[in-house]
Amino acid sequence: MTQALQQAGLAYREGEPLSRHTTMGVGGAAAVMAFPRSSEELRTTLEIRADLQVAHRVLGGGSNLVVVDEGLDELVVSTEQVRAVTIREDGAVTAEGGANLIRTALRTTRAGWRGLESAVGIPGSVGGAAVMNAGAYGFSLSDVMSEITVYDENGQRTQPPEGWRFHYRGSSIPEGSAVGSVTVRLERGDARDLAQQTRAIADQRRTSQPGGRNAGCVFKNPPDGHAGRMIDAVGLKGLRRGGAVVSPRHANFVVNEGSASAADVLGLLDEVRERVRAATGVELELEVKVWGPRS
Ligand code: EPU
Repeated sequence: MTQALQQAGLAYREGEPLSRHTTMGVGGAAAVMAFPRSSEELRTTLEIRADLQVAHRVLGGGSNLVVVDEGLDELVVSTEQVRAVTIREDGAVTAEGGANLIRTALRTTRAGWRGLESAVGIPGSVGGAAVMNAGAYGFSLSDVMSEITVYDENGQRTQPPEGWRFHYRGSSIPEGSAVGSVTVRLERGDARDLAQQTRAIADQRRTSQPGGRNAGCVFKNPPDGHAGRMIDAVGLKGLRRGGAVVSPRHANFVVNEGSASAADVLGLLDEVRERVRAATGVELELEVKVWGPRS
């Protein structure tokens, strides 16, 4: 694989620690990590992978991900260098998959475009946010999306006849495919009003959610409840395993205090799920993705 990447002039690193590429900051290394610098290179990387039948995963901002300590004997395709953003006169904004969502949201609101204000509180890449249909404060990315370019695991542009489907924290875009770009349609707004709104959203997030190393909300909200409220009610804030702790600020966050292993984080998540089930009968479902050996 590395030989083929080299021949094609594509950037890659061997034995790259995935802890460096995830906001949780845990996990072992990827056997090979490729860093395409454009949508074209992204496609080529996937084509080469398909030709050689190499197992792979696609990594966006790594903001919703726990990688196991053993790492992955696979190719990880990082989209972090595929990140151009174009704002057109009519408010159509096209961001490549690896563009940072918060930065994109700030750029558009500063330019006086309304629609991405709530995204200033959502870490990660635009592509990852699209696949997960990330959201906050009543907003989901799919609300403003007008177009999405997806490459399948073989590097071919793909779209089901009925179009991609988006739901609460998920979509029909399959694992292994890569988001080339997302276009959102924004409306004219007042840059000063928008600045005030984004500041308020960022403040709200700072007071209600922890900083530091974490992967956002770890469990999905069950249909009629809030995972954070439930975990809190069971008294699990501050529960710890090694360097991983249930945030005292928001119970649906697990924070890596610096020395946590993936085993600490995953063990803590199991314990929280088990204790919430014992106390309430509700089985919480993971919102974070876990990358480990394929079963
Ligand atoms: N609550 C508690 N204790 C806690 C945390 C929350 O009692 O420790 C209560 C709050 O007081 C509130 C309710 O639970 O009454 C809901 O809390 P919050 O407003 O923080 O919202 P959430 O449902 O916990 C969701 C998203 C967040 C998003 C916020 C803000 C999910 C799983 N979480 O959290 O998204 O930032 O709303 O809109 O949908 C993420 O996706 O990673 C994420 C963090």
